[in-house]
Amino acid sequence: MKKIALVFAVVGIGIISISTQSCKKNDDTPATPKPTLYDSLGGETLVADPTGTNGATIEAGRLLIRNIIDSTIFVIAGDNAINGHFIVLLSEVTSGNLSGFQELSKNLTDFVAAGTGSTHYTYEGLSMTAAHDPAQNPRMNNKATNADMDAFEADLFTGAAKAGVSSSNPALQSVGRIVESLRSQVVQM
Ligand code: HEM
Repeated sequence: MKKIALVFAVVGIGIISISTQSCKKNDDTPATPKPTLYDSLGGETLVADPTGTNGATIEAGRLLIRNIIDSTIFVIAGDNAINGHFIVLLSEVTSGNLSGFQELSKNLTDFVAAGTGSTHYTYEGLSMTAAHDPAQNPRMNNKATNADMDAFEADLFTGAAKAGVSSSNPALQSVGRIVESLRSQVVQM
């Protein structure tokens, strides 16, 4: 069942206090919004979309997140420690069907964009619990273990490095902390 998931609200991240909430000063001076984590990742400035056509543009933050996500999916695909959970996806891609990959890329990109404070994207995929429960998501082969989660996080940092973001990047480290905060929803055994 798809549901509009305010996932980070559920886990109490409240967009990890790097939210867009602006503080109102007592003197009614318009407050300057605090930069979000999404801003640190590039924000809402429109740039050329390298995968688009006819002058398509994309927010710089979304482009960086998408690049990291797509690189990470490729790293996971080659990681024998956890790629056994992605059998449905991998068999589709192997046979030339990219629809599942494209949907996963979009969902994960929306998830990170929304969770880091983007105002233009919302995540509409499964809840984290449902997405990682094989009984509710037939695309998830077997439940994830803590070791799987560790490998997933390592693959995320490897994928980010391939997308040009080093592991010492503070914004990436914040994303890593958000990911870690979701461990109990992903690991269900
Ligand atoms: C906090 C860490 C993680 C996050 C944020 C995350 C996020 C997501 C999201 C957003 C989806 C798409 C849900 C949908 O289609 O509606 C998904 C699907 C999936 N996740 Fe995760 N995930 C995490 C960790 C893991 C781990 C550790 C594994 C296993 C090693 C895993 C395996 C999968 C699989 C197999 C799918 C289905 C892929 C497909 O569509 O073919 N995830 N995850």
